[in-house]
Amino acid sequence: MIYHPVLIVGGGLAGLRAAIAVHDAGLDCAVISRVHPVRSHSVAAQGGINAALGNAEGARDDTWEKHAYDTIKGSDFLADQDAVERMTREAPARVYEMEHWGCPFSRLADGRIAQRPFGGAGYPRTCYAADKTGHALLHTMWEQCVKRGIRTYQEFLVLSLTVREGRALGLIALNILTGEIVPLAADRILFATGGAGRIFGRSTNALINTGSGLAIAYQAEVPLKDMEFIQFHPTALFGTNILMTEGCRGEGGYLVNAEGNRFMEKYASKAMELAPRDIVARSIQTEINEGRGFGKGGAGGGYIHLDLRHLGAKKIKERLPGIRDICLNFAGIDPIDTPIPVQPGQHYTMGGIDTDVTGAAPVEGLYAAGECACVSVHGANRLGGNSLLDTMVFGKLAGDAMAESLAGNANRTEPAPEARTLLEEDLRKTRDRAHRLMAGDGTEDPSAIRDRLKDVMIEKVGIFRDRGTLTEALAEVRELKERVAHIKVRSQARVFNLDLVTNVELEGMLEVAEVIALGALQREESRGSHYRLDFTSRNDADWLKHTLAHRTPEGPQLDYSPVAITHYQPVERKY
Ligand code: FUM
Repeated sequence: MIYHPVLIVGGGLAGLRAAIAVHDAGLDCAVISRVHPVRSHSVAAQGGINAALGNAEGARDDTWEKHAYDTIKGSDFLADQDAVERMTREAPARVYEMEHWGCPFSRLADGRIAQRPFGGAGYPRTCYAADKTGHALLHTMWEQCVKRGIRTYQEFLVLSLTVREGRALGLIALNILTGEIVPLAADRILFATGGAGRIFGRSTNALINTGSGLAIAYQAEVPLKDMEFIQFHPTALFGTNILMTEGCRGEGGYLVNAEGNRFMEKYASKAMELAPRDIVARSIQTEINEGRGFGKGGAGGGYIHLDLRHLGAKKIKERLPGIRDICLNFAGIDPIDTPIPVQPGQHYTMGGIDTDVTGAAPVEGLYAAGECACVSVHGANRLGGNSLLDTMVFGKLAGDAMAESLAGNANRTEPAPEARTLLEEDLRKTRDRAHRLMAGDGTEDPSAIRDRLKDVMIEKVGIFRDRGTLTEALAEVRELKERVAHIKVRSQARVFNLDLVTNVELEGMLEVAEVIALGALQREESRGSHYRLDFTSRNDADWLKHTLAHRTPEGPQLDYSPVAITHYQPVERKY
């Protein structure tokens, strides 16, 4: 049986940063990833990473406290303020660490790291590597892992988490390359598996972002927190959903409707295009819904223009080369002379596995970091540039915490006998499930279920929601859950059976969708990304609290926990 004192599930920035921390503390650890680590979704991050370095013109007096306040206000006061303070205080150290490890950040003329304005931020504090920041950071981090010889199990899909008596003991995973289902034992397990964007239609997320880590934790009775808060990025390339970075607006791009107006003036007269994402996405969708967009109106279509032409060819080529390439290759237009058609698209999962600031989940030995975790630093709406930061800060903190908690007990080279027995028991169950899926006589087409799920979520649990749409969504998701019991995997191949991979995930996607829809239905207020047409105001008296979803045989059971307030009393957000 494979055993490591620490197992990290996910090869993106949070997972790799945690692995480095564990390794540097002198402990053995391994990373399990369903793709090669540099293909993790962190690689797709474009615009940058926030840290109050004060490098940009006019930003000399930026501080981590101002970064904290912007983040808390951006979160519509749902973020835990102690966690936000921890993140923003540690931000410069994490960015300089990446600089020292060789990350090719864009530079000012004097050689310091360049910083651009981003939405909801009082200062230009987003450090960037042109518009390929995630790519630069992930490759740099991966080099550090290779240098250290950190073991990775690539193309392994984790199928289940073994928990007994409140303790995490190991994992069961599918080796996608061979088709084998194997047990992996560990004393500490970190989930850094990314978000659940692919549950929604019109998502900017990679195909691997199915929320599988969230589902596996939830199925092992770990609560999910604040899942109703789903971020819709204002600008996805119309017809493809490819991210058009907020950096386009940070560099001065305009949002323009079909009447030729910079409509953000109506919605956020001071911040304009650089209001927080929830506000900009709602504003764009309102313009489209009210007939001032281009193309087909209504929730399913229509777009507005992201106009970069006034920035000039030099700036576009230097600061936004990836955006230009995407536009040329996927839309056949050159943003130097043509406005980009954009519409909002699902982008980020603010909620996740309930953790404290060290990444510890309420199950002993289990940790989570990055998008699959809810610490909570993003509350009801994440600021652009804070997710890359979250991965680094909380990846490191979780790695440190796991190593520290094992100190003095790190010499084990194989699992405890009782853990081995319990993992073998779970291995048999998981193998049976896979065999049933492959050999069963199911009649349901899994791709039809998946497609319907995405449509339901984007249409009924999208930017605008109300009791009617949410009730319908919940009923439909529950119906799909019934149907999923009758699906069949068509390919019997052992090697690289992606049909099996996508189908084993479907059940989990439906469970996570059910949690999102139920949380949204119960939360009768509007806060950040959660906008209820039937409860349009924020209601701190009743709803300044986190949602916790617990799995029961009857479906999710919700309860609530307080928000940590340190210095900042909630006020109305104005931009
Ligand atoms: O727009 C962007 O570049 C995305 C950044 C983020 O999600 O933080």
